[in-house]
Amino acid sequence: MPQSTKKPHPVLKDYYGDEESRRAYVDDLFDRTAPYYDRILRVGFFGTGQAYRRFVLKKSGLKAGMKVLDVATGTGPVAQEIRKVVGDDHLTCVDPSRGMMDIARTKMDATFIQSLGEQMPLPEREFDRLYMGYGLRHVRDLHELFSEYFRVLKPGGRCTILEVSRPRTKRQFALARFYFRDFVPFVGKVLTRDPDGHLLMRYFWDTIDQCVPPEEIQDTLRAVGFEDVQRDVQLGVFSAYTATRPAE
Ligand SMILES: C[S@@+](CC[C@H](N)C(=O)[O-])C[C@H]1O[C@@H](n2cnc3c(N)ncnc32)[C@H](O)[C@@H]1O
Repeated sequence: MPQSTKKPHPVLKDYYGDEESRRAYVDDLFDRTAPYYDRILRVGFFGTGQAYRRFVLKKSGLKAGMKVLDVATGTGPVAQEIRKVVGDDHLTCVDPSRGMMDIARTKMDATFIQSLGEQMPLPEREFDRLYMGYGLRHVRDLHELFSEYFRVLKPGGRCTILEVSRPRTKRQFALARFYFRDFVPFVGKVLTRDPDGHLLMRYFWDTIDQCVPPEEIQDTLRAVGFEDVQRDVQLGVFSAYTATRPAE
């Protein structure tokens, strides 16, 4: 275990009792809501999410021939865009939720590994690019996660992390809160007719609201050795962090 620690957010007592119970809670939530996840993305976000993921991947310099790791694959929205560029043979997908990955597996023939991003059964210096879409808030520890990213990337390799950030201005915050805390959970409830769809989206908002600020995420990337750490923000909420493992 690394000496420094950085939890992505404090314990959320409305959902689970203590830090030890969080992992089981998160895995169970994603397993149970996996069948609805794609529908909620399509309707709740008006299909814009996929175009944004494509935009970020293109900007990151993803090219054919690269070996790529997608962490927090879920049902595969990021992975599907990666495979269009590098093909299934060059893509490895990691996620702890069997329910989510079972759905991703039906869409592509990449290599799938059921694992936490913080501790991956993968060799060091293996990948040219690493992506993580909206999984950062669910990990045990950011320092541990980024150290693991550093380990598996080749020197000169780059990671790109997509995450929703708490907006800074009052107006943007009020808008985002309505959208993520009220509108998207409502869509989840209507589409799934299941309280779990609603719960997942409520939980999302609370983890966004309570997440450590972007500066701490960037500082933690630097602390484990990454350089050229940057953050691109769209609409005040959609952050794409990029960081490079120094070349040797
Ligand atoms: C909101 S989904 C994101 C799926 C997809 N990447 C996307 O862009 O929509 C979050 C995913 O993170 C996964 N996850 C949760 N904890 C994780 C961890 N510690 N390491 C890696 N993935 C994790 C969940 O199982 C879930 O599939």
